[in-house]
Amino acid sequence: MKTTAEIRRDFLDFFASKGHTIVPSAPLVPGNDPTLLFTNSGMVQFKDVFLGAEKRSYVRAADVQRCLRAGGKHNDLDSVGYTARHHTFFEMLGNWSFGDYFKQEAIAWAWELLTEVWKLPRERLLVTVYHTDDEAYAIWRDQIGLPPERIIRIGDNKGAPYASDNFWQMADTGPCGPCTEIFYDHGPEIPGGPPGSEDEDGDRFIEIWNLVFMQFDRQPDGTLVPLPAPCVDTGMGLERIAAVLQHVHSNYEIDLFQALIRAAAELTHTRDLQSKSLRVIADHIRASTFLIVDGVLPSNEGRGYVLRRIIRRALRHGWMLGMRQPFFHKLVAPLDALMGDAYPILREGRATAERALLAEEERFAETLDAGMRIFEDVAARANGVIPGSDAFRLYDTYGFPLDLTQDMARERGMTVDLAGFDAAMAQQKETARAAGKFGAGVQLPAELVAQLAPTGFLGYEQLAADGLTVVALLKDGKPVEAITAGDEAIVLLDRTPFYAESGGQVGDTGVLTGAGLTFTVRDTLKLAGQYHGHVGVLEQGRLARGDRVHGAVDADRRAAIVLNHSATHLLHAALREVLGRHVQQKGSLVAPDRLRFDFSHFQPLTTDELAEIERRVNAQIRANHAGEVHHMGMQEALDFGAIALFGEKYGEHVRVLRFGDASTELCGGTHVHRTGDIGLFKIISEGGVSAGVRRIEAVTGQGALDHVASEEQRLREVAQALGGNVADVADRLRALLERQKKLERELEQLKAKAASSATGDLANQAQDVAGIKVLAARLEGFDAKALREVMDRLKQQLGDAVVVLAGAEGGRVALVAGVSGAALGKIKAGEVLGEVARQANGKGGGRPDMAQGGGEDGPALRAALAGVPDWVRQRV
Ligand code: ALA
Repeated sequence: MKTTAEIRRDFLDFFASKGHTIVPSAPLVPGNDPTLLFTNSGMVQFKDVFLGAEKRSYVRAADVQRCLRAGGKHNDLDSVGYTARHHTFFEMLGNWSFGDYFKQEAIAWAWELLTEVWKLPRERLLVTVYHTDDEAYAIWRDQIGLPPERIIRIGDNKGAPYASDNFWQMADTGPCGPCTEIFYDHGPEIPGGPPGSEDEDGDRFIEIWNLVFMQFDRQPDGTLVPLPAPCVDTGMGLERIAAVLQHVHSNYEIDLFQALIRAAAELTHTRDLQSKSLRVIADHIRASTFLIVDGVLPSNEGRGYVLRRIIRRALRHGWMLGMRQPFFHKLVAPLDALMGDAYPILREGRATAERALLAEEERFAETLDAGMRIFEDVAARANGVIPGSDAFRLYDTYGFPLDLTQDMARERGMTVDLAGFDAAMAQQKETARAAGKFGAGVQLPAELVAQLAPTGFLGYEQLAADGLTVVALLKDGKPVEAITAGDEAIVLLDRTPFYAESGGQVGDTGVLTGAGLTFTVRDTLKLAGQYHGHVGVLEQGRLARGDRVHGAVDADRRAAIVLNHSATHLLHAALREVLGRHVQQKGSLVAPDRLRFDFSHFQPLTTDELAEIERRVNAQIRANHAGEVHHMGMQEALDFGAIALFGEKYGEHVRVLRFGDASTELCGGTHVHRTGDIGLFKIISEGGVSAGVRRIEAVTGQGALDHVASEEQRLREVAQALGGNVADVADRLRALLERQKKLERELEQLKAKAASSATGDLANQAQDVAGIKVLAARLEGFDAKALREVMDRLKQQLGDAVVVLAGAEGGRVALVAGVSGAALGKIKAGEVLGEVARQANGKGGGRPDMAQGGGEDGPALRAALAGVPDWVRQRV
């Protein structure tokens, strides 16, 4: 039997022997691609190569790509646990041609691997082709020799042109094309029909390999634009082919899943290895762990929310298996044992994943139980449909993602009122909207992008330059030929010394000048990824396309920015040294006055850690390393030890910035010549941003000196207020606090003395009624708590007693009654209190020995208190 590990290796060896370059799996988070939530197939990392926007040194590639289909266009989350072969996370074996081979070789090689290397019986295989793809049809029939009844044409079966099982597209836009799919027949004993039939969704005929002939780039308006060259993109789910090669009918029965299911069964004390909950947990631990090691953390939006939904689904299944303690994070270790060899990132990130999962388990544990009870109640009352308002309450207050509630409803044959849920959500958003949102970014018209070459950046070496040509002008977002004084506009130049905001570094400001014209640059933005847009206002003159101008960056401001940017790199390196390699950049702002750095870490930094980080950064500043810039291939850069940023897209060629042995990072920003230029680095704050993300703010250079000076000034003011000098300020403060503590203690003692002397006086006022001491008194300014204390002392002093106390405050009284000693059994505290309260227009009650209440202050109260001895006399 072939293990999954052997299958991975066979696949790569086979395509290497056919001249393919073996490429590592890309992360689950696609670099800089807003059209995609996750890497949902092997081709994602090659998207730009298909589009012709990126060139690689090879034209044939193969890999094993980790993929996630949850959220977004390809979403299998709802099918997990319900079918034998759907997963959120899975591995895709793929081979590619970038304008090299096409249908012929793609089909022939797929067939060779399946039938000759893996020796699958030919009669078990059948294929589909797109209905108009006669070429693929002919290859299968004439060259491979498949009988026509096993070549099925599939048309646009999804309700629109090119919406077909045999027309693959990455997302609503992007590369797409017709495909041919290879199916395996698991045998007549398994229910299900061939592709294209009514019951094609059964488990008998399973698609194992999809060969896509990429030919078009789908535009946002739906039109298909031909790619520069036809390409091949194939994808074979590792879990499915493993099921075939291991002679099992469900992906959950393959070696890898069985091991995970056994680990989950042991942890949850579950005997039934067929349990759907175990399968869901086994699927979800893979998705959750890989997302975390690829840099996603649970949160309430975007990718983080998909992760949270996956984790919470798994936790709900654990709950159904009886788990009431965190357990899910304990599955990271067995997962690492199974997959860590194939994915080093998993091994490296294991501790991070365990901590992040445990934190999420602890968080959800606070509401899971209560939420489940609420769901049970609602479901018991509901008539087949869970009301939207309840689903929203579960979502908003109990952290139950909508799809979790839908999943629970589905298990009972119920549905959720989605319109009601949306209405409840919309109402809440309406309130939130008042807070206001930041405006959308500037869009560069597509026709400009087609015409213009990328802006040449001069600003690494120069802060001013002459003879810069205006290549485009945008006013109100639209291209114009010229602007006149007073116009706000965006100016595009052929070359520029102005740095455009990117990689956290803010855009430059400055001025463009020419014959009689001055354009103030307030900011510089990166447009369409490659143009520097000078945003500002024309103060005087006229500026037209084709004009030549002089550009000068605000040099002081840029100099301050540069210090902060280089310090950010040193900080990043120091954080990884002091806190651990799990630290990943989560966001960065490099401004003239400060730097802000967000990074993944699980707890607040201690004072010692902060001091150590600051110390290391300053040591590297004093080491005065030269900043060296290298241009190299991406892989070379990684081998060189460069830190690449998570979620950032890099081409094959990258710019690497290195400060001696202190820091090596991929970066396009502007930096100091030597680290010594930074002068001084001071951390000014540390705090949390969201779960698992911390933020450090710091200052450098003159900013750091200013900060130190203002701290010193504050210290001097404190010293002055304490009447001493800076050197002994701590001693003075400590002495002062000591003294305050001593005074507080004395005050407490005095208060206690006063209270007991009040008690003593009161005790003397007690009357003797048939051997019982009876006391009823009104005390000014006493609240219920103070009354109870006095009461306790009086009871001790008086022995056999009936005591009623009224604490008067602002027209009302608090009432307390107590009965002790021999009086117990004869008089009930609740009754005597009730009597007094009744007369004072109030109420109260309590136990036979102690009762409390309240009423109105005034003559009626005084009379009631005066009447207590008689009242007692009548009852003993
Ligand atoms: N990109 C194709 C798929 O995911 C191969 O099925």
